[in-house]
Amino acid sequence: MSELRKVLVTGATGFVGKALIPALVAHGYEIRATTRDLARTTPTRGVEWIACDVTKRADLKRALEGIDAIFFLVHAMGGGARNYAATERRVAAELAEVAARAGVKRIVYLGGVAPASAPSEHLQSRLDVGEALRSGSVPAIELRASMIIGNGSASWQIVRDLAMRLPAMLLPSWTASRTCPIALEDAVVALVRALDIPLQSSAWYDIPGPDTVSGRQILSTIAALRGRRVPGVAVPFLSVSLSSWWLKLVTRADFSLARELVLGFKGDLLPESDRYWSEIDYAPKWSFEDAARKALADESLDFTVRGVAGKIEEVVVHLVSPKLRP
Ligand SMILES: NC(=O)c1ccc[n+]([C@@H]2O[C@H](COP(=O)([O-])OP(=O)(O)OC[C@H]3O[C@@H](n4cnc5c(N)ncnc54)[C@H](OP(=O)(O)O)[C@@H]3O)[C@@H](O)[C@H]2O)c1
Repeated sequence: MSELRKVLVTGATGFVGKALIPALVAHGYEIRATTRDLARTTPTRGVEWIACDVTKRADLKRALEGIDAIFFLVHAMGGGARNYAATERRVAAELAEVAARAGVKRIVYLGGVAPASAPSEHLQSRLDVGEALRSGSVPAIELRASMIIGNGSASWQIVRDLAMRLPAMLLPSWTASRTCPIALEDAVVALVRALDIPLQSSAWYDIPGPDTVSGRQILSTIAALRGRRVPGVAVPFLSVSLSSWWLKLVTRADFSLARELVLGFKGDLLPESDRYWSEIDYAPKWSFEDAARKALADESLDFTVRGVAGKIEEVVVHLVSPKLRP
């Protein structure tokens, strides 16, 4: 375990934060966890919950008192908030400054992979947040992930819904783009180990999963895991921005988020390097297919409204859609 003992987890109620906290507790860290709405939390052993809106400087100052290291897992774009990119940049710069004053020794940020071509607004904003955090005087480590696979991940939800719901798959040009999705379990290892890695100054690393897959392979693998045959019909003239509109009909995920994610997948989203894994002496364990299988299995154990709706849908889809031939 690292010398950094008291750790603040922002975005603690989110998909990644919820998985990270038990791993940190198991490693012996003392956790302070933030949410804007304490009513949504339940008492968790080893965790002090506090209310904090990161856009409010006073909340940040209070949250950072006595803290050695911070996980920054917040993003503000859900719901299509206007000017979210400017807000995210301002919050990141302020966090870096308040953290320095509070004597914080490390910031860990989970961001997105930089595309080879011009980034979408969403990806640009994620990269800008990383840069703002790395520009402060507290050493910051930025881990860049493409889609994180697990039940509850917004990006997983989008591809899962597309794979399950389209009777015949229309494949616009973006589904030829390639990326290296990572399982939630491997992403959590990467985050926990970010507290240990020697760091003289700020740095960023990609955290790719072991497989490089195209959008089309992602969709057909998920469909096949559910016994569906998905005849792909290439529609190369269907532009990224046009195709994002049919997402509105298909996915349960927040539409503005779904649209941003498709816009971000215009070209390949590939890592520059996988050297982080050798730096922490760990190889990601989950293939794309195994991670997808686990996310689907976890969905069937999910008794939230989302999980139950998924189960009902699966029965309907099973009855009406084309099946894999034996
Ligand atoms: N999921 C993926 O596939 C993926 C892929 C690559 C990178 N990432 C990165 O991983 C990080 C976490 O993603 P996630 O999927 O876990 O997100 P998520 O499930 O959408 O959770 C977002 C979190 O942000 C918090 N939040 C939003 N606005 C806030 C504010 N103003 N003040 C304080 N907290 C606020 C929410 O907390 P409350 O509502 O409780 O306040 C929530 O816990 C993000 O930086 C994301 O870019 C995710």
